Amino acid sequence: MAFNIGMIGTGWFSRVHADILSNMDGVNVAAFVGTSQEKAEQAVRGYDGAKAYSNVEQMLDATKPDAVYICVPPFAHGEIEAQVVERGIPFLVEKPLGTNLDTPRQILHEVKKAGLITSAGYHFRYTDAAIKAAELLEGRKIGMALGYWMGDMPQVYWWRQQEGSGGQFIEQTTHMVDLLRCLLGEADEVYAAFAHRAMKDIHEGVTVHDVGTATLKLKSGAVATISNTCMLPESDRAGLDIYTEQGVIGIQSDKLIVKEKGRTTEYRNAVNPYLRESEAFIHAVRTGDASGILSSYEDAFKTMEITFAAMQSAETGVPVKIGE
Ligand SMILES: NC(=O)c1ccc[n+]([C@@H]2O[C@H](COP(=O)([O-])OP(=O)(O)OC[C@H]3O[C@@H](n4cnc5c(N)ncnc54)[C@H](O)[C@@H]3O)[C@@H](O)[C@H]2O)c1
Repeated sequence: MAFNIGMIGTGWFSRVHADILSNMDGVNVAAFVGTSQEKAEQAVRGYDGAKAYSNVEQMLDATKPDAVYICVPPFAHGEIEAQVVERGIPFLVEKPLGTNLDTPRQILHEVKKAGLITSAGYHFRYTDAAIKAAELLEGRKIGMALGYWMGDMPQVYWWRQQEGSGGQFIEQTTHMVDLLRCLLGEADEVYAAFAHRAMKDIHEGVTVHDVGTATLKLKSGAVATISNTCMLPESDRAGLDIYTEQGVIGIQSDKLIVKEKGRTTEYRNAVNPYLRESEAFIHAVRTGDASGILSSYEDAFKTMEITFAAMQSAETGVPVKIGE
């Protein structure tokens, strides 16, 4: 029997996932939900037999999917997850979980109560680079890390609005915060400074900061800084460099760079991390073995706690303890 997936959202990323899913053995993209019937009709083209809906409840009740992919902007989370969880349907949700902590906290409560299998779209964890870095770090003493997401401003309307995306640190740089947690462990405290420098004058309706930097104290005793900008004319780089007593281990989106003993070694990613992420999730739902899921809703909530604390610190000008 085919394994049926319901896609919620008809934008860029729901299609990236749908293309991967429709090429997987025994997996069927059964439906798309859009904010209008027209957008949903457009989205289903190219996916054999997929049905179009403009309402999440209708799709869930008519299609009865085995799992759901939630690929909507940060501001749109809440009611969608509530409907999915109420029906006991496992879901993969794109990061970030929301624009603040209130909605994700409520969803997490419901997810735990239902004992649902969930996955969050922190795909960096599934890269060959991150997997190899974790292996190498086993034998090294971590001192500190420098994370960065230096790029341009995404064109989608919601991204440039604070209430739409939560801002760059919550929306995009969250990948580096999550990687930091994955490889260096949990954080105790964050202090951040964010500012508006150029983008408010260049584009209309920009309310997100366009530069920012955060300093983190980790529970292990290591320290980290994570910085970001979205004011560049084009994307520069994103990554996390980890400093140990043996050298530097740098994770970038497409490779790992290890600088040790006077030598630089590059390991390029060979496997598509989004494929690995979906394979782990589908396997978990099919078999009940969720050990391959590297970021669950519960785990992703901890990343959200840090990025939201950074925002609070930037607003108040004082360090913020995590989880308080
Ligand atoms: N993991 C990654 O590498 C990665 C990459 C890109 C995007 N993303 C994430 O995916 C999410 C979506 O990004 P995108 O680039 O596809 O955005 P997009 O603007 O292209 O698409 C968002 C879609 O959500 C739909 N939508 C909005 N509110 C909805 C609602 N209430 N019900 C149903 N649909 C609704 C919109 O109509 C649109 O089709 C974002 O959170 C983004 O951060 C993750």
